[in-house]
Amino acid sequence: MKALVLAGGSGTRLRPITHTSAKQLVPVANKPILFYGLEQIREAGITDVGIIVGDTQDEIEAAVGDGSALGISATYLRQDAPRGLAHAVLTAADWLGDEDFVMFLGDNLIEGGIGHLVEAFERDRPDAQVLLKSVGDPTRFGVADLDGEGAVVGLVEKPADPPSDLALVGVYLFTSAILDAARRIEPSGRGELEITDAIQRLLDDGRRVHASTIDGWWLDTGKKDDLLEANRIVLGSVRRRVEGEVDERSELVGEVVVEPGARILGSTVRGPAVIGARTRIEDAFVGPFTSVAPDCVVERCEVEFSVLLERCVVRDVSRLEGSLLGRDARVVRTERRPAAHRLMLGDHSSVEIS
Ligand code: DAU
Repeated sequence: MKALVLAGGSGTRLRPITHTSAKQLVPVANKPILFYGLEQIREAGITDVGIIVGDTQDEIEAAVGDGSALGISATYLRQDAPRGLAHAVLTAADWLGDEDFVMFLGDNLIEGGIGHLVEAFERDRPDAQVLLKSVGDPTRFGVADLDGEGAVVGLVEKPADPPSDLALVGVYLFTSAILDAARRIEPSGRGELEITDAIQRLLDDGRRVHASTIDGWWLDTGKKDDLLEANRIVLGSVRRRVEGEVDERSELVGEVVVEPGARILGSTVRGPAVIGARTRIEDAFVGPFTSVAPDCVVERCEVEFSVLLERCVVRDVSRLEGSLLGRDARVVRTERRPAAHRLMLGDHSSVEIS
């Protein structure tokens, strides 16, 4: 079995964080989202991994390389434009050949791995196996319609009027029958070749489509609040590891990771929290549920329930909460007159001032 990981597309909903960079590389607990999926694929015993890439190919390749550090062998498959998940499958057709494969969306995080899903697929070998999760707002997802016995009778992408609350999770297993189905669908209203429509085509052809539901958490990290929630949940399983410097005026409470070269000076870090390499936390309070990437400075302020990417500076700000700061972002207090907020914000930025 092979794995096809989708890391193309454009990250419009995490803009401006992903205007120029891959949304699959945004970190959760200081590790790129994409790596969690790649690790789960390897843990399921699959090492032959095709990665669909688009405009952010260079960045994805720089992070994953040949895959050996993650125990996989990565092949990059360039998609000309983000023309849909089924289009991504067709882009990979030659590489897939007639092998069975698991398709994993590079911005999805699921609890508990995929080993049991791969086993169930190999045992029953339907033409498609989908994973479902009950959600509060199914209109944001692909949605499944099941009959009284729990068999899938229909699938629809982002329906205005959902037939159920069961969303399609971004992990699918397929035989090569999906290739033929994907060749026989038309672009949807949003102009994409939807995998949901290709699976519906399998159903219409009388092929077997199995569904199972996921009990654990599942996160599609496409939006800021989802990303903060993913960070909160994943941080819940970090264990204390202190490799950086913590001075005698500082206190670490609970599960805190301090990476090498990081310095905690006169500060309290309340876990769960991770402090990246070479970051300096000084006269500050950080945590809980906060990830600070490498090379940041957090000085004379409080930061809680937030994610800071590389090289951020936060200084003399009374309190940041529920915030996501992109690379090289600066939030600082100034004594300059006239006293005013001076902002330089990327497109689609959002600032709430209390
Ligand atoms: O997250 C689960 C949902 O993922 C499912 O419930 C939906 O049925 C499914 O269509 C998909 O919906 P999204 O709108 O969230 O998909 P998104 O455009 O975010 O793309 C998912 C991943 O696939 C993301 O990492 C980008 C990548 N991608 C996307 C497209 C459209 C590609 O590599 N190529 C593409 O053409």
